[in-house]
Amino acid sequence: MRQTSESCCCPVDEKERAFDQISNVIDLYRNKEGSLIQVLHRAQEICGHLPLEVQELIADKMNIPLATVSGVVSFYSFFSTVPKGEHVIRVCMGTACYVRGGKKIVEHLMGHLGVDIGETTKDGKFTLEIARCFGACGLAPAMMVDDAVYKQVNINKVERIFEKYREGGR
Ligand code: FES
Repeated sequence: MRQTSESCCCPVDEKERAFDQISNVIDLYRNKEGSLIQVLHRAQEICGHLPLEVQELIADKMNIPLATVSGVVSFYSFFSTVPKGEHVIRVCMGTACYVRGGKKIVEHLMGHLGVDIGETTKDGKFTLEIARCFGACGLAPAMMVDDAVYKQVNINKVERIFEKYREGGR
């Protein structure tokens, strides 16, 4: 379950720089159709997550209610109000992956990492999420680590994938 973060965790000078960048993004997208989602994506890229402070900035600069911004952030699973780990693991729980063992993979990862879905390991290394179909259904079950897709995964394969990321590889 995602939690609500009240404020940005960046040091003050980094925060000012990040807020300036977000303001510039808002200027670029101002008055464009569907701009809120684009702005939120860019803001999350800049800050790593979307704490309340960032949502307030966006609502204020775009002249829209904070409830609208917060509603969009909480609706889409790819937005997060808390910082994510260095690597984000997404296990597909779409139908094909679910019936071919996706749930077992998730349970294994929860035990292995000591986290629940949506949480980040204490060392900040991994965030565990679930997703709905990466378009690799023919080679289910599938999971992603950051932008890399791993197909036909099983517990042994997950262990090997992990070693790579633990050692800092990609
Ligand atoms: S259902 Fe998992 S990749 Fe499509």
